[in-house]
Amino acid sequence: MARIESQAKAGFYPTPDSVCELLKTKITCEDGARLFDPCCGTGAALSCLATANSTTYGVELSHERATEARTRLHQVLWGDALQEIRFTYQAFGLLYLNPPYDNSISPDEKSQRLETLFLRHYLNSLQPGGFLIFIIPYYILADKGCAQALARNFTVQVFGFPEDEFQAFRQCVVFGRRKRIAADQAESSEQYLNELGRMEPDVFLAEAETLESVVPASIHVPAAIKPLAAFSTSRFDPAVGIPAIRKAGILQGVLEELAPRKKNFIRPLSMLENGHLALVLAGGFMNGEIEKNGKRLVVKGVVRKESPVVSTSCDEDGKGGSITIRDKYIPTVRIIDMETATLHTVQ
Ligand SMILES: C[S@@+](CC[C@H](N)C(=O)[O-])C[C@H]1O[C@@H](n2cnc3c(N)ncnc32)[C@H](O)[C@@H]1O
Repeated sequence: MARIESQAKAGFYPTPDSVCELLKTKITCEDGARLFDPCCGTGAALSCLATANSTTYGVELSHERATEARTRLHQVLWGDALQEIRFTYQAFGLLYLNPPYDNSISPDEKSQRLETLFLRHYLNSLQPGGFLIFIIPYYILADKGCAQALARNFTVQVFGFPEDEFQAFRQCVVFGRRKRIAADQAESSEQYLNELGRMEPDVFLAEAETLESVVPASIHVPAAIKPLAAFSTSRFDPAVGIPAIRKAGILQGVLEELAPRKKNFIRPLSMLENGHLALVLAGGFMNGEIEKNGKRLVVKGVVRKESPVVSTSCDEDGKGGSITIRDKYIPTVRIIDMETATLHTVQ
């Protein structure tokens, strides 16, 4: 399983129901407010906070959870929120962010905390005066990138999780109001966040204000101020695409497009090994529709180029050396079950 997918699996720490219920009492929405959760899981947390006069938007990496979230939120995209999503800046009144608690995976960059990457990537989705609700392990407050992004873009307040929920992942809730922040105020706010993040867990819990102490209805989510011109994913989601293709009556055309342009009848000299077969599949030689065990399946091979692999070596005397950069290609076969509109990916 690719690391990003396993991260999605392991990183499912939904907001506890008790915290959702508490947060719900603190929120009201103006008519036409948009609420956004870029790692929405099953959509349960955002739908709990939403009011009848607001619209909810989510993104989720796990296909199963994205499908479930569609039963709770108004619009849900399936995809990698850090790579594949287009959205209009300043189009949302509330950004609910409870990202995976982990390090980033890029081998050629310095590893960064995902909480910080998500915050930086999505803070511009908020309109001026919009609210951030950010759920993270409290010690991430001392991560330089995170503290800076919070201090420079928001007026912030930090609350501890209720004590019995705190023990598992030591989370806090950050409330932020999107504003232009003066440099001296940002500096003192960053220092405050750093101090909180460096505390011992029991000291943090004793020092931090509690969520219960927040005045009810104190987060008033503003109405949207501009149209949502873009909210899309570059991933093809069969659960959305196949019904749309069927409705448009263009299924046959799509299947013909998928088939390889040229039929090459290759006669290998010896039996193909599994590795060869995988490459033939990924290269698109078997694209198209097949029937297997009474199922209609559509096969599409893709070869994706990943970040290059860099290796270095030194001469024995330590005076010289070489750097080798090799391109890395990932052969992938995607299989769509046409009856259930489910997608299987073999890598
Ligand atoms: C901590 S859970 C939060 C779920 C929900 N927002 C809540 O608070 O209950 C994080 C979710 O982010 C998803 N996720 C992880 N990496 C992601 C990515 N790159 N893009 C979109 N979602 C991602 C995981 O699959 C998981 O469901």
